[in-house]
Amino acid sequence: RKKVTVKTIQKLYKTRSPITMMTAHDYPSGVFCEKGGMEICLVGDSLAMVALGYDSTTRITLEEMMHHSRAVARGSKSAFLIGDLPFGTYEKSAEHAIDNAIRFIREGHVEAVKLEGGVEMAGTIKRIVDVGIPVLGHVGLTPQRASSLGGFRAQGTSLLKAKALLADATALQEAGCFAMVLESVPSPVAEFITKRLSIPTIGIGAGPHCSGQVLVQMDMLGIYDKFTPKFCKLYERLDPLIVNAMKEYGAEVKQGTFPDSKLHTYAMEKGEEEKFLN
Ligand code: KIV
Ligand code: NA
Repeated sequence: RKKVTVKTIQKLYKTRSPITMMTAHDYPSGVFCEKGGMEICLVGDSLAMVALGYDSTTRITLEEMMHHSRAVARGSKSAFLIGDLPFGTYEKSAEHAIDNAIRFIREGHVEAVKLEGGVEMAGTIKRIVDVGIPVLGHVGLTPQRASSLGGFRAQGTSLLKAKALLADATALQEAGCFAMVLESVPSPVAEFITKRLSIPTIGIGAGPHCSGQVLVQMDMLGIYDKFTPKFCKLYERLDPLIVNAMKEYGAEVKQGTFPDSKLHTYAMEKGEEEKFLN
């Protein structure tokens, strides 16, 4: 498969081919993105919750994100690879954000970074873009700020808030984002914003009229046990399959039917076994 770059993404956008994006958090989930033909692979900080079991994405550090993104990079080869700048690594100042974005590229092996926020982040985004790092924006529900938003809830649901969201999206485009995530936004609002912009929108819980879609891999596969957001379609329910496999294994070990004395182990060299046992 051909390597996906920002150029490819622009081409998909121009030809109105919906862009496919999926999260990954380790080597196997990266390989799944590769085999599944995803165009963009995101090492989202949602991994703090779905892979590490924290109750908020604000718990994770850049070091931890890079530990995961390096593993994803070993498995996901042709998708455009983006890393989420975690909470606390880009808000303080543009210099701080640039330093961390550079580290993410160098030590985390990603090709672009994503950060959350609208108008207030535009200046910082422009500075990161200016040093040559592609930035994916993220507006609407911004999970790193869930506390101040009053939880994980839909955004832009009133006229006033929808207008503010459009202003945020416009500011991100002007700051130089190559695309932006719209999370938990009413479909008509996402459609309107998408029509107004000249860069792609990647929706999650934002309806079918975005330029692309993203889902969290552990959610769409039915593996994460805490909750599944309303907007996530379960394409598979792997959790019972995995649990049943373990129960079966456990039972077979107890019964002595696994492992098989021939299938699942090794023989000694010819004639050696008898001598060894006697
Ligand atoms: O962290 C994440 O997985 C994300 C996507 C849901 C866009 O930010
Ligand atoms: Na995220």
